[in-house]
Amino acid sequence: MPSVLIIYYTRTGNTEKMARHVEQGVKAAGGDAVVKSVSDATIDDLEAADGIIIGSPTYYGLPAAEIIQLINDSVKKHGRLEGKAGGAFSSSANIGGGNETVILAILQAMLVHGMVVQGIPKGDHYGPVSIGAPDERAERHCKLLGERVARLAERLAQ
Ligand SMILES: Cc1cc2nc3c(=O)[nH]c(=O)nc-3n(C[C@H](O)[C@H](O)[C@H](O)COP(=O)(O)O)c2cc1C
Repeated sequence: MPSVLIIYYTRTGNTEKMARHVEQGVKAAGGDAVVKSVSDATIDDLEAADGIIIGSPTYYGLPAAEIIQLINDSVKKHGRLEGKAGGAFSSSANIGGGNETVILAILQAMLVHGMVVQGIPKGDHYGPVSIGAPDERAERHCKLLGERVARLAERLAQ
């Protein structure tokens, strides 16, 4: 059973709700899901997981500073996250408000770590986005991402 760590930052709860839907997807695929606020997550947690999914609100088209801080701290694990499965999601206020650029920023950092990132061919392509709190559509895409990263993590761990 692959372990998938879901890390999020939130101020008003929307991204946390997305994280809980991603968790359901990981579990539906038979994965062991751990959800942590970024303030509770350590770089050792990153190393321990088979898959890592990171969610952030969209702040001026960028991830929240707290998420960027974790990414910067993860340099201490450079080389040790290689081959893990990755994915990302974001909540924003507006359609076209920069949620995809937030996801891509997180996925870029994962690629620099040598991680294998997952998108959704029949869904939000780079990762789930939600306008405000997740509606049914966003919930479905969050679950899909969780399932897909859990399955990828299982294959990569073989
Ligand atoms: C400092 C700040 C910057 C923001 N920048 C954007 C933005 O560039 N585009 C956008 O669509 N929403 C922006 N928002 C809105 C948030 O992304 C949105 O409310 C999101 O759902 C908040 O997620 P949370 O409930 O997990 O905190 C911004 C909000 C704040 C506080």
